[in-house]
Amino acid sequence: MTWATGTLVGPLTVGPPAHGGHCVARVDGKVVFVRHALPGEVVEVVITEDTHDRYARGDAVRVLEAAPGRVDAPCPVAGPGGCGGCDLQHADPSTQRELKRQVVAEQLRRLGGYEWTGEVEQLPPASGLGWRTRMRYQVTPDGVLGLRAHRSHTVVALPTQGCLLAHPDQPVPAGDLVPGSEVVVAGRGDEVSVIVDGQLAAGGRTVTEHAAGRAWRVSADGFWQVHEGAADALVDAVLAGLEPRRGEAAWDLYCGVGLFAGALVDAGVSVRGVELSRRAVREASRNVPEARFEAGRVEQVVRRWPATVDLVVCDPPRTGVGRAVVEQVVRRRPRRVAYVACDPASLGRDVATFAASGYEVHSLRAFDIFPMTHHVECVAILAA
Ligand SMILES: C[S@@+](CC[C@H](N)C(=O)[O-])C[C@H]1O[C@@H](n2cnc3c(N)ncnc32)[C@H](O)[C@@H]1O
Repeated sequence: MTWATGTLVGPLTVGPPAHGGHCVARVDGKVVFVRHALPGEVVEVVITEDTHDRYARGDAVRVLEAAPGRVDAPCPVAGPGGCGGCDLQHADPSTQRELKRQVVAEQLRRLGGYEWTGEVEQLPPASGLGWRTRMRYQVTPDGVLGLRAHRSHTVVALPTQGCLLAHPDQPVPAGDLVPGSEVVVAGRGDEVSVIVDGQLAAGGRTVTEHAAGRAWRVSADGFWQVHEGAADALVDAVLAGLEPRRGEAAWDLYCGVGLFAGALVDAGVSVRGVELSRRAVREASRNVPEARFEAGRVEQVVRRWPATVDLVVCDPPRTGVGRAVVEQVVRRRPRRVAYVACDPASLGRDVATFAASGYEVHSLRAFDIFPMTHHVECVAILAA
């Protein structure tokens, strides 16, 4: 069975959440990944993509029987055909976290062979709005500030109030916006930088962030945790899990501007860090002069590093660390490894690779540092 894009299908009874911000429904054995629906709901679905034999994608456009966690989306451009940034605004915050809990548990069970029984932890503000300290806007061909639609280059114009996820102390770009341009806004309060198509338009090249008891200089368009409370929450989880001892040696892999390295140095640990971005490494060296940083690919650089290490933090991009890095890490027999993961599927695969070398999950916490979206961050502590 193949549907043309735009076909209305249903009523469908919606099943469990799946990784990626949708729930699973079935029509005659074919899976339909339905966005903007909740488990247990009966909905009508518009097909948005059907290019595979076994599954199609669709948006719930009419809810015939609503689940208890359903709410009206706070943003007028969230929902079917709207902005692609938020995919869970139709659920109240505790329902969002429950959906993410199920996804994390399922990915770890299926890919990692690990039974997780925890909860996804909430960060303030409880509304799930106003937490983003970094925004990457697109400008429509008409010169209106917008964000991209889901799986599309189409730019959806934002209402004049801007994006509800943006921090309230961050200005909404206004005035003469160049059609088709990209506008990055970083920082808040009296330190805000604006970068238009890679060129600094206002503020400084870097902004100051405060976390883990330190101040950090970070490029306005470089990597820093976007949720205002995320850096502290993740550092706390990593330190609590690693239980660093004075005099130990640690590696901070995928170190960015040195967040975890700084926290470990302050715990009396000597730290080496590695990061692909040369600019981030320069900033890390200034932020944490007590640690040694190298620019390069983790998988190549760590081969040259010492034969033993006590503690390892890895905070890779969505693809995870992969077998080559796991092998380099376990060869050093660290006492503990803290794995900070933004993709539970990659984490599940890497957990299985660690387990094959005798490193099991000692504890795992998950944090809702991307409310209103399906994204979730995990901190797994592994030990032999
Ligand atoms: C999720 S960020 C973590 C940054 C840092 N730990 C923090 O919390 O601020 C992932 C980082 O990995 C870097 N990266 C991506 N691939 C890499 C690779 N193969 N080797 C080293 N760094 C890499 C990116 O540049 C990015 O800074």
